[in-house]
Amino acid sequence: MSNLDKIKNTVDEQLNGGATFVIFGASGDLARKKTFPALFRLYKNNLLPKSSSILGYARSHLDHDAFLERVVEHIGKDEDKKTIDGFTKLCTYLSGQYDEDESFKKLDQVISKSEDERGMKSGQKNRIFYMALPPSVFLDVAKECHKLALASDEKSVNRVVIEKPFGKDSESCGELLKNLRPLFSENETYRIDHYLGKEMVKNIMPYRFSNTLFSPVWNSTHIDSVQITMKEPFGTEGRGGYFDEYGIVRDVMQNHLLQIMSLIAMERPIGRDAEAIRDEKVKVLRCVKPIELKDVLIGQYVGNGENPGYLDDKTVPKGSLCATYAAMVLWIDNERWDGVPFILKAGKALDKAKVEVRVQYKKVPGSLYGGVSRNETVMRVQPNEVIYNKFNNKTPGLTEHPMVTEMNLTYKERFKNLQIPDAYESLILDVMRGDHSNFVRDDELDAAWRIFTPVLHKIEQDRIKPEPYKYGTRGPEQEARFVQRYGVEQL
Ligand code: NDP
Ligand code: BG6
Repeated sequence: MSNLDKIKNTVDEQLNGGATFVIFGASGDLARKKTFPALFRLYKNNLLPKSSSILGYARSHLDHDAFLERVVEHIGKDEDKKTIDGFTKLCTYLSGQYDEDESFKKLDQVISKSEDERGMKSGQKNRIFYMALPPSVFLDVAKECHKLALASDEKSVNRVVIEKPFGKDSESCGELLKNLRPLFSENETYRIDHYLGKEMVKNIMPYRFSNTLFSPVWNSTHIDSVQITMKEPFGTEGRGGYFDEYGIVRDVMQNHLLQIMSLIAMERPIGRDAEAIRDEKVKVLRCVKPIELKDVLIGQYVGNGENPGYLDDKTVPKGSLCATYAAMVLWIDNERWDGVPFILKAGKALDKAKVEVRVQYKKVPGSLYGGVSRNETVMRVQPNEVIYNKFNNKTPGLTEHPMVTEMNLTYKERFKNLQIPDAYESLILDVMRGDHSNFVRDDELDAAWRIFTPVLHKIEQDRIKPEPYKYGTRGPEQEARFVQRYGVEQL
């Protein structure tokens, strides 16, 4: 049986060939750009249950055609019209409020009617609620779903997919978890961090735990520093309202980058099931000391003549001190990582788009080949997935002197015609398969916020001013000196 067939079988076992996907916030950015295109690709690859229905729900008044136009907009121009038509036939739109019983009664009626029309039997009336919504409305929607829109028979399942950010600090996250717990069990809840669905992030475990070549050096005896970097070449234009409330650390560092770090740093799990993996992630996160202000550099972009600065955005409050760039150093207090800085860096409006992990090894001991470069392992998550190990090799020809070169695995070259699934496609598939491995467990969140909350509060209370950097540059000029302090060498 092919791997794809096995996946289909698990979806069938879990959902018995039937499901209704309710996409809350269907009028929004995420739904249009990610959720619907991912559902389309699952449909195209025949991975949705045989009888599926997709219901977009939001407050905006959209007629059916206008909604379908939005759905199709980001699917891709080269897609076959017949497949697009087949997919849009599954999609409908309902306008309603997020906190009103009447709206949710109507939602339940619409779903039940569609289930009847599709001849759904007990065990097939599964409901997957996807919250493509700002966090401020998660709880209202979860309460209404729980009260009025759950699956109508006991054999069918309910699943709720929640987007990040999960709270703003330890306290608000704890409050959100506490209030959601009576509504949906941990087993029914899928907290998405879409970085966990990215191909190279999913490759960290196989790289570390299926190669005897690399695992013995993965510790403080051999590794000097680890940098996890996320650069985006665009600003927060149009998203200023959301962004200013959260800032770069809460937007991507406390979640996406920390998730990558926990996979890089955790111990080998006892198995590959969700709980074994998440147990190890929690364990290592609990060993991370809360970040201290001395280990922090924050920045905010200013205009460059062509592109506006952060404060030029009308949706941003005047004089905001919100960080659009941050570098933070995390220390893991355990035997494997004692003394190794994990430097997390993220910024908007930088010089390029890049997400990568850069592991820098200790200096080559002795002076046999005096002055040779250190080794590095680089895992580039995007764009263009690649893993390369920088190593020293004799310069070919009439010289003995080593030169730095690379053992390079560029995915596009090695795996020709490979279609790497988008993170959302892979994660929605996991939701259907009931696999929590790539979702965030409640105690992971608690451990993650414990690391960031004190320093975030300190930055806010002391009104620490971010360093300015020009749109389209590498970030604040202080960055180079900052990373040097932790022994990082530019090779
Ligand atoms: P949007 O701002 O586009 O909001 C989605 C929809 O929610 C809107 O169309 C609107 O629909 C409704 N909405 C917006 N603001 C409010 C409000 N204050 N109260 C009630 N309803 C509101 O957000 P995104 O789609 O960008 O993001 C949704 C979630 O996904 C967020 O949690 C975000 O962090 C997360 N996310 C987003 C990514 C992206 O690329 N956009 C990537 C990763 C995560 P209507 O008014 O019609 O009801
Ligand atoms: C989201 C953040 O979670 O991730 C955005 O809210 C960011 O600010 C986005 O741009 C990046 O995702 P990706 O997949 O484009 O790297």
